[in-house]
Amino acid sequence: MSNTKGRILYNEKGWEALDSFFKEMKIRQVFVIVDEHTEIHCLPLFISRTSKEAVYEVIKIPAGEKHKNISTTLYLWECLGKKGADKSSVIVNLGGGMVTDIGGFVASTYKRGIRFIHIPTTLLAMVDASIGGKTGIDLDHIKNQIGTIQLPEMTLVDTDFLFTLSGDQLLSGMAEVIKHALIKGKTEWEKIKEMKTPEIASVAALVPSSIAIKEEVVVQDPDEKGLRKVLNYGHTLGHAIEAYSLRTPGSIPLLHGDAVAIGMILESYISTELLGFPKHRLEELTSLILKLFPKQPFDDGAIASIIKLTSFDKKNVNGEVRFVLMEELGKFQTDCTVPVELIYRAFSYYQRA
Ligand code: GLY
Repeated sequence: MSNTKGRILYNEKGWEALDSFFKEMKIRQVFVIVDEHTEIHCLPLFISRTSKEAVYEVIKIPAGEKHKNISTTLYLWECLGKKGADKSSVIVNLGGGMVTDIGGFVASTYKRGIRFIHIPTTLLAMVDASIGGKTGIDLDHIKNQIGTIQLPEMTLVDTDFLFTLSGDQLLSGMAEVIKHALIKGKTEWEKIKEMKTPEIASVAALVPSSIAIKEEVVVQDPDEKGLRKVLNYGHTLGHAIEAYSLRTPGSIPLLHGDAVAIGMILESYISTELLGFPKHRLEELTSLILKLFPKQPFDDGAIASIIKLTSFDKKNVNGEVRFVLMEELGKFQTDCTVPVELIYRAFSYYQRA
């Protein structure tokens, strides 16, 4: 098992590796973290694909980004403590990005770090959250303010879990698939730019190449000193929009991907204005995103609050907000500063589109 650290294993190969892991004599306890949804929809598939002799305890947490916080973390740490988890224990995170982020964080901090395995069950977690070792929790609804970078023993990707998702959940993950295509460049973009409402089979076929794009970036810059920042494309405004929707009473919380999709339109408009990102590409991206994701309204008050929230972005330097912008498909500039007035114009472009 030790030689698979950080590796991504698909389907049967992954389940076989997991089984041999269960058999490893040195592991005293395995804890499977699920949320209210994955307990019902994903645990049965997990049970049917693991060996009958496998012994593990299931720990359930509440579902949803609003629970990816210190209270749930404390609950998990205490649970592990009460159940006698030690350095030889292993945590299996069975769920979407919320479960893999918080489960990875708990595992990487409990007793200064115990081993963990991700089994992502959403598209978003398959192509993004479970790859590359970032773990984290939110602080006052600001995304991933506390976290670690720690690779799982492995990520087991079984695209059959995609059948457990609602249409909204599937779409949310498409935002990261689109982002990876922009990062890779023209050939990958041409494959998806005309995509209609995604079917599970066609989405499942995109998963390995989307993961490979992220891996290629992470391998070159695991600690996000430079290149890895491109994976945050659309996320400076996307995270702020998501935090705004979570914090604002009466506002319907947006899924991560819905917010990032809007963030990518806004940041692509800014890229066109500041770096000459081709207009026809901006229009292609806008049209794809608006075909897949519902348009959201933003009044001036909302935009002002969202801009304020960008001050918490993790890429900021000396308190100054830094964006990742795109010169052309596959070519990015990091650490860009953007005038506030241009952010307002980007929202106005989105609203008119
Ligand atoms: N989700 C961005 C990263 O893993 O770097």
